[in-house]
Amino acid sequence: MEIDVFTLFPEWFDWFTAQRHVRNALAGKVRFERVNFRDHTPLSGGQVDDTPFGGGAGMLLRVDVVDSALRAHYQLDPVELRAQRRVIALTPGGRLLDDELVDELAAEPALTLLCARYEGFDERIIEHFASDEVSIGRYVLSGGELAAMVLCDAVLRKLPGALGDASSSAEESFSSSLGGDPEYPHYTRPAEHRGWRVPEVLLSGHHERIAQWRRERSRERAQRLGGDAAD
Ligand code: ADE
Repeated sequence: MEIDVFTLFPEWFDWFTAQRHVRNALAGKVRFERVNFRDHTPLSGGQVDDTPFGGGAGMLLRVDVVDSALRAHYQLDPVELRAQRRVIALTPGGRLLDDELVDELAAEPALTLLCARYEGFDERIIEHFASDEVSIGRYVLSGGELAAMVLCDAVLRKLPGALGDASSSAEESFSSSLGGDPEYPHYTRPAEHRGWRVPEVLLSGHHERIAQWRRERSRERAQRLGGDAAD
């Protein structure tokens, strides 16, 4: 898989790419590249943003800047790019990132992530260059970088070989093998601490009863979440 992140703050990703599971992915089949919009701006003084027409607070990432950064990187009119690969603009109002969308993105051969700062994107960037708008939640971050890292983290751990034990991603929260329910509780040693005992069934070695107990706990958690993780 190939992931290109377009940002004004490529150094934000230093920490992310230094983490072991990300390094492992990058040592394997994943290529991760950062592109600084500022390196490709056609404007003088490294300008990349501007004030909104009609007034209002904050600055917007300019469409001509994004156009020239995408064009320089892919040697292609960016309007054509989204027919070839997912071009994702990170915005607070986009499609909410959930397990289904993560699976969808993990199956792609290539992703382009666009991160805006300030008040966000000139709308023409989303309209003409992006194939998707993705949000990690209904709150506003100071930019798309953290959201891009969240998305990459969730996608990378779905790729084959990313986790030590492949079954640990198959039966995790919200996966189809749990019917979209949150994951059941886990316990490890000691079996008792300050009088808090691990449920006896988990110590029984009885695989069927353990599986049933786990299904029931998952369902209970789904119901506590208001049913939106289930049904
Ligand atoms: N950019 C700013 N806030 C965001 C959010 N909640 N999700 C994705 N991108 C964002």
